[in-house]
Amino acid sequence: TVTLEAVRALPKIELHRHLEGTVRPGTVHALAAANDTPLPVDDVRTLYTYRDLRHFLDVYDTVCSTIVSPADFHRVAYESVLDAAATGIVYTEMFFTPHVHLSRGVPAAHLWDGITAGLRDGIAETGIGVRMIMDCTKFLGPHLALLELDLLTSLPDPDGFLVGIGGDGIEAGVDDAALAPVFAEAARRGLRRTYHAGEFGVQSVADAIRVLGCERIDHGPLVVEDPSLAAEAADRGIVFTLCPSSDVLISQVYPSVRDHSLPRMLEAGLHVTVNSDDPAMLGRDISDEYVTVVEEGLVTPEQLRDIAIGSVDACWLPDDDKAALR
Ligand code: ADE
Ligand code: ZN
Repeated sequence: TVTLEAVRALPKIELHRHLEGTVRPGTVHALAAANDTPLPVDDVRTLYTYRDLRHFLDVYDTVCSTIVSPADFHRVAYESVLDAAATGIVYTEMFFTPHVHLSRGVPAAHLWDGITAGLRDGIAETGIGVRMIMDCTKFLGPHLALLELDLLTSLPDPDGFLVGIGGDGIEAGVDDAALAPVFAEAARRGLRRTYHAGEFGVQSVADAIRVLGCERIDHGPLVVEDPSLAAEAADRGIVFTLCPSSDVLISQVYPSVRDHSLPRMLEAGLHVTVNSDDPAMLGRDISDEYVTVVEEGLVTPEQLRDIAIGSVDACWLPDDDKAALR
């Protein structure tokens, strides 16, 4: 078995972590009070039980509504880096979802300047590495996604934080292939590609790989339902950033972590990593997740170690920087 203490001491890489899902409950309350954006409950944590993905995204919006000024984004990003370091993360590629903020009137520059300044301070204090991935909101389609891509790639980024594009939000009923021109343009601008898929069906995984040109799939547990697609993904070296607890608690793909397809994914030769998704909003971070996958019998401690080491190859750092993480 593995202990939480031992897992925290293990240097870890987290590739599926949403900045907005890392906001400390105390910070949500402090920002809500300061910005007069009232919360519907006295303790935000009472909102953190989810009926489904849609309900989760509603709570996510509520949390986001408390983050307003560049200083607020600075605080959120800074604390997220500190919390990542505290649980033994040495490098993370973190999502943020521009639409959630732009749609409520936050200027793109406030969002980006605040986040990057907070990251810089957190990095200076902890020494960990951080890069960012902009997630477009899948169900809103290509026009808004392209607008967001233009906005974000036109802002100054002297530290090179922005390394990738992804897509999140509601999966069911979305025409993933419609985002092809956006992902192609992102690639032309030097961004790497990933996509939330395979929580509600396998077609989204196929489209993300074949049409959007993604190198990674965020979640993707249902890929095992299509053995030929799984074989293709294994062949192509596609990385799956799994979040076993999220698949149970948010999208409810499985009744319990025990039922997760992770062991079948390993048998199919797929490259998987283990991640938290939204640590504050799930009350579980990557260390908890590492312990859980062993305790629930999904992997052996040896397999977990291999998964942790394999996450170096899965990240988007240049090879020289990867070597430093080994
Ligand atoms: N936004 C944050 N976490 C998400 C998830 N697991 N699926 C879809 N959208 C998300
Ligand atoms: Zn996610």
